[in-house]
Amino acid sequence: QKKIKAALLGLGTVGGGVYKLIQRRKDEMEQIIGTQLEIVKIMVHNLDKKREGIALSLLTDNWQEIIEDEEIEIIIEVIGGIEPAKTMILEALHAGKHVVTANKDLIAQQGRELLNAAEESGADFLFEASVAGGIPIIRPLKQCLAANELTDVVGIVNGTTNYILTKMFEENVSFESALVKAKELGYAEADPTADIEGLDAGRKVAIMASIAFHTRVVFEDVHTEGITKITEKDVAYAKDLDCVIKLLGVAHDTKEGIEVGVYPMILKKEHPLASVRDSFNAVFVHGDAVDDAMFYGRGAGEFPTASAVVGDVIDVARDIQYECTGRISCTCYKDTPIKKFEE
Ligand code: NDP
Ligand code: HSE
Repeated sequence: QKKIKAALLGLGTVGGGVYKLIQRRKDEMEQIIGTQLEIVKIMVHNLDKKREGIALSLLTDNWQEIIEDEEIEIIIEVIGGIEPAKTMILEALHAGKHVVTANKDLIAQQGRELLNAAEESGADFLFEASVAGGIPIIRPLKQCLAANELTDVVGIVNGTTNYILTKMFEENVSFESALVKAKELGYAEADPTADIEGLDAGRKVAIMASIAFHTRVVFEDVHTEGITKITEKDVAYAKDLDCVIKLLGVAHDTKEGIEVGVYPMILKKEHPLASVRDSFNAVFVHGDAVDDAMFYGRGAGEFPTASAVVGDVIDVARDIQYECTGRISCTCYKDTPIKKFEE
């Protein structure tokens, strides 16, 4: 039986997890997909880096070798950033290859162009891992909750900042040393400014709002504040009030337009989001039929993120096997105005 061949772009925290998880679950995945899935190439930046458990023959730094290989049907992009990831994804989609990515920077900024390219070529284009790491949230918003008029999507969607705040509140650890640890644990972005200044959460809010409200919200629409201005005094003050501080991502579809923002909030300890600790994330959704729903889990890290990426890969491989490709993660049919943020 014909194997399905995939190429992995990036072998860092997420790419490493994806490769290991696919190896670990090889036999079960064959059962689920109906045929074998094989990673036949892995693209990296630095070929000289030591990589344990990876056959040297798999590694390449040559994109042409991958894009020109007609047998490779699935591209898994976990390099991150805008370029060269954008060019690679577009070239892959134009060549009729299916794409799975965890790249929220790109989706929040250029998602429409990529979705259009996928629609034109009839390729699958999935990005479950781009929001809240291991928590299933893109598919629930797009599919499971599609019968609802969704009006509110609110949550903790950055693992790094939630980890830092947890350490500051519970162990009196300084902001700086908590950030160093978050980097070591693989939670932080290549440039952690994106995490601590609320930009990463802002990108996730833009993606969730676009899907939930069937419109186009880009990162630039989202008002963002991070956690860098939170002082030890703020922490002590919040503790005195029996409260915690959490960085919240907020998207509301109001009569006057869409409100999207990221900012630190003081929450009473009894608030459900106050108990979301460490690198965990949680997202509340309100819809007219479902009422309130909450999604909770690990928002960052090697295997939680790989769980979401490989879930997408399995979906794509099944679509190829059963000849029903063309699945994309978003359907925008409205053009709702964005409401300006008021302090
Ligand atoms: P890392 O920095 O750990 O890994 C990046 C990988 O991409 C490395 O293997 C690097 O190669 C490779 N790479 C970088 N530039 C190039 C290039 N020009 N050509 C080929 N390969 C390149 O990043 P992460 O694994 O943490 O993140 C990957 C993506 O997943 C990002 O989009 C991120 O936002 C997203 N994400 C990350 C999560 C996390 O918890 N870390 C969670 C959810 C999403 P080399 O090894 O040679 O340096
Ligand atoms: N840097 C991100 C975070 C990774 O800390 O949430 C997951 O998207």
